Amino acid sequence: MNEVLRAIRERRSIRMFKPDPVEPEKVEAILEAGRWAPSGRNTQPWRFVVVESKEKREELGRLVTQMDMVRTAPVTIAVLLDTTAGYDRVKDLQAIGACAQNMLLAAHSLGLGACWIGRVKDDQVEKVLGAKEHEELMMLIPIGYPAERPPERDRLPLDSLVRRI
Ligand SMILES: Cc1cc2nc3c(=O)[nH]c(=O)nc-3n(C[C@H](O)[C@H](O)[C@H](O)COP(=O)(O)O)c2cc1C
Repeated sequence: MNEVLRAIRERRSIRMFKPDPVEPEKVEAILEAGRWAPSGRNTQPWRFVVVESKEKREELGRLVTQMDMVRTAPVTIAVLLDTTAGYDRVKDLQAIGACAQNMLLAAHSLGLGACWIGRVKDDQVEKVLGAKEHEELMMLIPIGYPAERPPERDRLPLDSLVRRI
C-alpha cells in the first residue's frame, strides 16, 4: 500500500490531545493541503480562521463542549464558505468537504490528530471567529498531538456499496 492509501486507511478521528504545541510549519502545511483541494470551476470557496490564542480557544470551547475538544486542542482551524466566491451551493459544499478531508489527511501524515466537527451553534461560533457577513461556518477542525489511539470504526463492506453495470 503506498503512503497516500495508508494515510487514508489509518487516519482516525482524534478527540483527545496532548497539550504540546503544534509547530507553525505543520499548521501551514495543513492549510496548504486545504488550499490545494479541488473545487468546481476552481472557485476555491474556502476561507480559514486559525484559532490559537488561549482566550479564543476558551471562548469557542464554551460553545463547542463535546469532549472539551476545542478548548484542549492547541489549534483549531475553522473552515468557512465564502458565499460570494462559489457558484453552485451543492458543488461549493462538495469542495469544502474535499478541503476538510485534505486537511485531516495532512494532519495525520504529520503525526497529528484531528477531528471534523460539523456545524454547531453556528451563529455564536461565527461571532467568536469574526466571520464576515458572507461567510458561513462549515466545520471546525481541532488539531493536536494525539492523546488517544481510538479503535477502528467499522465501514460498510464494499459489496454492499458498489453496483457494477
Ligand atoms: C460531516 C461530518 C460531521 C462530523 N461531525 C462530528 C462531530 O460533530 N463530532 C465528532 O466527534 N465527530 C464528528 N465527525 C467525525 C465522525 O464521527 C467520524 O469521522 C466517524 O465516526 C468515523 O470515524 P473515523 O473518522 O475515526 O474513521 C464528523 C464527520 C463528518 C464527515
